[in-house]
Amino acid sequence: MNSRRNFLKQMFGGALAVGAAPSLVARALALPQSGSTEKTVIDMPGEDGLIVRSFRFVDLETPVEYFNTWLTPVPHFFVRNHMHEPSELNGDVANSDWRLTVGGEVDKPFGLTFSELSRMETHSVVNTLECAGNGRSLHRPQVPGIQWGKGAMGTARFSGPRLRDVLQRAGIRPTGKHVMFRGLDEVPGKVPPFIRSIPIEKALDSDTLIATHMNGAPLTKHHGFPARALVPGWIGAASCKWLTEIKVLDAEFVGNFMSPGYRMPNQPIKPGDAVKPEDTHPLTALNVKSVIAGPIEGARVKAGKVAVHGAAWAGENNIAKVEVSTDGGTSWNAAGLGHDEARYAWRLWNYAWTARSGDYTILSRATDSEGRTQPATALWNPSGYLYNAVDQVKIHVA
Ligand code: MTE
Repeated sequence: MNSRRNFLKQMFGGALAVGAAPSLVARALALPQSGSTEKTVIDMPGEDGLIVRSFRFVDLETPVEYFNTWLTPVPHFFVRNHMHEPSELNGDVANSDWRLTVGGEVDKPFGLTFSELSRMETHSVVNTLECAGNGRSLHRPQVPGIQWGKGAMGTARFSGPRLRDVLQRAGIRPTGKHVMFRGLDEVPGKVPPFIRSIPIEKALDSDTLIATHMNGAPLTKHHGFPARALVPGWIGAASCKWLTEIKVLDAEFVGNFMSPGYRMPNQPIKPGDAVKPEDTHPLTALNVKSVIAGPIEGARVKAGKVAVHGAAWAGENNIAKVEVSTDGGTSWNAAGLGHDEARYAWRLWNYAWTARSGDYTILSRATDSEGRTQPATALWNPSGYLYNAVDQVKIHVA
């Protein structure tokens, strides 16, 4: 291994352990630290122009201008890892000792080889996957954690067996109330393992999957190869990658990534106020939200026809409308919604604006099928979850 690969292996743990085809080795851009204008360019297998938010583990953000296709190509899809990716898993999983075990509150615990899993009936779901921490850097006052901008999300077609088919084969006992997922992450030092659970009702939903494919191709290592949970419409953390164990529990799993992680105060709180754990609840479905993919922040565009466009999504709900303001929020205009739609997927939207020269603040605001509208200011919370304020960009028309 040459020194550059050694350097990258140190940076990305096991991420480079599997030799990547040279065509897949693309560039990931590290944003300059505050105050610096320098940009670091790093080669990463399978990733194309993503923003590096953390070097310790692989945390890559999609630049907003990539949100112009209904399905996000896998090399443009954000990556969120709490720890190192498993170094042992490789392409020959069918002949490896990888097993997906199913146990807990069931009558017949069993284990599936990858070949057995692959022979099960498959189902596809187009889902917008968004990290609960997406937009954290925009909360005021700022909160600690990965300082995601607007691009810790993407939309893909996920395919694989239904979770409920696997659970029903094991025979769920009446005591089974939650379903726990364990990932094969390599856990450094004292970091607790990535284990979370979802309520049995969501686990038995016909769209909740054990996904083995993303956009028609086997999952890549970054996205959970060989199998991940896909819990559509819910925060990304529900969709456990590198799945190795499914366990039916009689109550919600107790562990760091269920509490204190991924919880929201039951009542709005002021920055600095203490919240008791019993006054919080676990995050589930995503908020209503939109993002402007173009023009991008700071753009200089020519006067005349300007296409203001982006994406809007609402977790388990549908998008009812997207409105665009080109005067800082004084007046709003309906955007046209794209033809591609699916229950858990974003809608692309477009507004044809006739722009005269000047400086503008452009806003986008989505409303969902339950009448929820993006707020002017997001609900502040100590971990900076679920940021969903009206999106805005400042541009200059020349
Ligand atoms: N699963 C495991 N095993 N380990 C992780 O760190 N991160 C979760 C989830 N599943 C994670 C995981 C989080 S926080 C998110 S937002 C999504 O994976 C991101 O999925 P992606 O990396 O495929 O985009």
